[in-house]
Amino acid sequence: MHILPVDPENPEPDPIERAAEIIRLGGLVAFPTETVYGLGANAFDEGAVARIYAAKGRPAYNPLIVHVADAAGAEELVTHWPPAAARLAAAFWPGPLTLVLPRHPRVPARVSAGLETVAVRVPAHPVARALLRAARVPIVAPSANRSMAVSPTRAEHVVKGLGDRVELILDGGATDIGIESTVLDLSREKPALLRPGVLSLEELSPFVGAMESGAARAGNHARPSPGMLDRHYAPRATVRLFRPAAAGDALDLARRAAAEGRTVGALVLDPDRFGDVVTAVLHTRLAMPQDARGYARELYAAFHRMDEVGCDLVLVEAVPASPEWAGVQDRLRRAGEEPPL
Ligand code: TXA
Ligand code: MG
Repeated sequence: MHILPVDPENPEPDPIERAAEIIRLGGLVAFPTETVYGLGANAFDEGAVARIYAAKGRPAYNPLIVHVADAAGAEELVTHWPPAAARLAAAFWPGPLTLVLPRHPRVPARVSAGLETVAVRVPAHPVARALLRAARVPIVAPSANRSMAVSPTRAEHVVKGLGDRVELILDGGATDIGIESTVLDLSREKPALLRPGVLSLEELSPFVGAMESGAARAGNHARPSPGMLDRHYAPRATVRLFRPAAAGDALDLARRAAAEGRTVGALVLDPDRFGDVVTAVLHTRLAMPQDARGYARELYAAFHRMDEVGCDLVLVEAVPASPEWAGVQDRLRRAGEEPPL
């Protein structure tokens, strides 16, 4: 495995060309996108796509996102490009939005885990864009972590999770958005939000009209977007959410766990929360940013840190229920044990 530093604003041609060469030859390259680091391979190379599943330990039923340089590239991968796709692409691409559309036969079925649809996205990160241009092929890129683990927002996270399973990591520093793209299904009559991200329903709905919630869609179909399923995006530790009103219960839980010799961490929103018990009960306490965008940017790095310091239990203060927090709330809910305190 090699790590090549690359300027996140103005990527140097050398590392980009080396990465593109590896992709064209069927290898795997990890690279930064504006959301999280992706594990990239040539979408048209079935062997390379299979290597992605193997490297991640990803179940064969969980489909991949195909990254393209522009909307025209996306149109070539689908059999139908509805007006809503054109409007969304014009408004949000390049950016953290993934669209699910009917798959063109030129996209290997394996990319989509056998589904008739394909997920497409035009990333905004200059490194991802330069790589797509240089590779001259669409690039499948799931988040560059082992299946079920926390997505990487820094090159070090990729090294930790996939270091021996990837040929090259382009190190462009920390990613800006920090949680994965919003996934919107436009393949059926009624659009459905399959995975919330930093783009809120309120921002998206003017471009799509009435939408079905992911939960409603999940109830209607045997197998929804696998990304919607159960535990996911979780650190090694048990994560327990607590409402601010239940902070006392959370502290009791922390005390009991600490007394049993377990290492306890906390992610708090109120900067004063648990400030006085840090060393006695809490091994690590991280005060998170109080705005949704800032919180999203730091969340996975915080989870990775809790893993690094060996936490067994992480208490996480619940975030507000307002729309701009939907993406963060979704990731916390998936990481956490039910029920929250
Ligand atoms: O921000 C992102 O989207 C990152 C960066 C690297 O682009 N990628 C990412 O990929 O998060 P991954 O594989 O970790 O998550 C892809 C999500 C999964 O929840 C998957 O089930 C869903 O997209 N998905 C992919 N293709 C789909 C399809 N055809 N139908 C429904 N859901 C699909
Ligand atoms: Mg992922």
